[in-house]
This record gives sequence, structure tokens and C-alpha cells, in this order.
Amino acid sequence: MQARLVPALLISLMYICYPAYAAHHGDAARGAVLAKQCEGCHGGSGNSRIDGFPNLANQKYFYLVKQLREMRTSAQSRTGVADKPEHDYTELLRQRRNNEIMDAFVFNLSDKDIEDLAAYYSNQPCTADPTSAALTAPKFDVRCRVCHGERGIASNRNVPNIAGQDAAYLEQQLLNLKDASGGEEGQKRRASIMEGQVRHLSEQDIRDISLYYARLPCR
Ligand code: HEC
Ligand code: HEC
Repeated sequence: MQARLVPALLISLMYICYPAYAAHHGDAARGAVLAKQCEGCHGGSGNSRIDGFPNLANQKYFYLVKQLREMRTSAQSRTGVADKPEHDYTELLRQRRNNEIMDAFVFNLSDKDIEDLAAYYSNQPCTADPTSAALTAPKFDVRCRVCHGERGIASNRNVPNIAGQDAAYLEQQLLNLKDASGGEEGQKRRASIMEGQVRHLSEQDIRDISLYYARLPCR
């Protein structure tokens, strides 16, 4: 009897807990207000129109939260004012994703601000239409598809969509990841999964794959 009760209890617990879990997905309406300060570079609804600046519209919620937290920790650590728990202080995190243009905008964001901004952008429709014809996929793209999806729209919630993303931005990120992959084991800076993927790509490969994804429809 008891043995049969346990799974039943677990299942009802899952139902009870799920709304609470979903509630952690941020408040998109509040995020829309905060996002006013980001408009100049990322566009009104996250659809950036500036070369080299990423589109954020319809990007994955968990991916956005991760990037913003890393950029914030990095910005605060570099100026020495971070009041983070000790595990956030590690050299690894300090050296993770960072970009000085973004520093001023992430520096004072709270965890809630980050979740609300991510909720806002992940719910915006992506409107960028490729202006040029699609290209043939480079051969090594079969590897990328495993995680980023058949046409650059990922199904895994932690993997970013890359279809229709700004080409110069994609190229810059891949070059950064390749650069990060050069360090000693354990000193990887940003995302070891991706660093392993780009390590053996040439600069030409990186240019080709960036253009290929930039010209796929983002929706
Ligand atoms: C002055 C221009 C500027 C402003 C304002 C700005 N950003 Fe950015 N943002 C950038 C640039 C440039 C990058 C690319 C950084 C890199 O190379 O890592 C970026 C990257 C990002 C990324 C990573 C995107 C990805 O696909 O990984 C996120 C998320 C982001 N910004 C969110 C925001 C939010 C939220 C705000 C407002 C609170 C904001 N940005 C304000 C210029 C700006
Ligand atoms: C095993 C899964 C996996 C494979 C295979 C993979 N990626 Fe990724 N990729 C990821 C994850 C996870 C991230 C997010 C990293 C992070 O959290 O910073 C990412 C990030 C990226 C980014 C940065 C996106 C942004 O908005 O800044 C680009 C560009 C990218 N991948 C391109 C590629 C290309 C091109 C290939 C094939 C050569 C590839 N990926 C293969 C999982 C993968």
C-alpha cells in the first residue's frame, strides 16, 4: 500500500510545485519597462538594427539569464565591488563572458531585474528577415545541428537560437569562444561545450558558418 502511495504523492507534489517553478520565469511587463534603457542598442523589442549587436527577441529565457548574470559578475569583479557569494568569485566566473560596452547596463541589475528582462525579450517576436539568399551549409554544420536545431532554432532551453542572428556578432562570439578554448583545462572561460566545438574551426570556417546562420529565418 505504502509503496503505491509514494509515486502518487510524488506526482501530486510535481503538480503543486510546477506553478511555483513557472512563476520564476520573470515578469515580462516589468521587464519591458527596464528594457527602455537597452533600446538604443538592442532595438525597441530586442530586434537590433546595428551591425555587431545581437538580437535578443525570442532568445531563450535561461540562456539570457545566464549571459546577464555572467556579464554582471564579471563587471562587478573587475571593479572589485562584487558582494557575491564566495562560489561566484572564482577565477572561472570572473573571466567568463564580459563586454565593456555592456558593463554599465548590467552592473546594478538585481537577479529579479535580470529575470524580468529575460522574460520580456524571450517573449518578443523576432522580426528580422534575412535580406540575402540562404547559403549552403558548411559540412561541419551537422555537429552544430545536434544542439542548435536543424535550422538554428534550438529545442533545448539552455541552447541559444542562432538563426537570423547578426552575422558580425556571431563571428565575434565564435572567435571569442575559440580564443577561450586555448587555455589550460579548467581555465576555460565561457562555455566549455562550445569551446570544444569551435577549437578546430579555422577563421574562414567561422566566417562561413556565421553568414550561413545569419541568413536563416529567425522564426
Ligand atoms: C551601448 C549599447 C548597449 C546597450 C545600451 C545594451 N547593450 Fe546589451 N549588448 C551590447 C553589445 C555590443 C553586446 C555584445 C557583447 C558581446 O560581444 O558579448 C551585447 C550583448 C548582450 C546580451 C548577450 C546576447 C546573446 O545573444 O548572448 C544580452 C542578453 C544583452 N546584451 C542584454 C542587454 C540588456 C538587458 C540591456 C539593458 C539593461 C542592454 N543589453 C543594453 C550593447 C548594448
Ligand atoms: C553540444 C551542444 C552544442 C553544439 C554541438 C554546438 N553548440 Fe553552440 N552553443 C551551445 C550552448 C549550450 C551555448 C550557450 C553557451 C553559453 O551559455 O554561453 C552555445 C552558444 C553558441 C553561440 C553563441 C550565441 C550567442 O548568442 O552569443 C554560437 C554563435 C554558437 N553556439 C554556434 C555554434 C556552431 C557554429 C556550432 C557548430 C560548429 C555549435 N554552436 C555547436 C551548445 C552547442
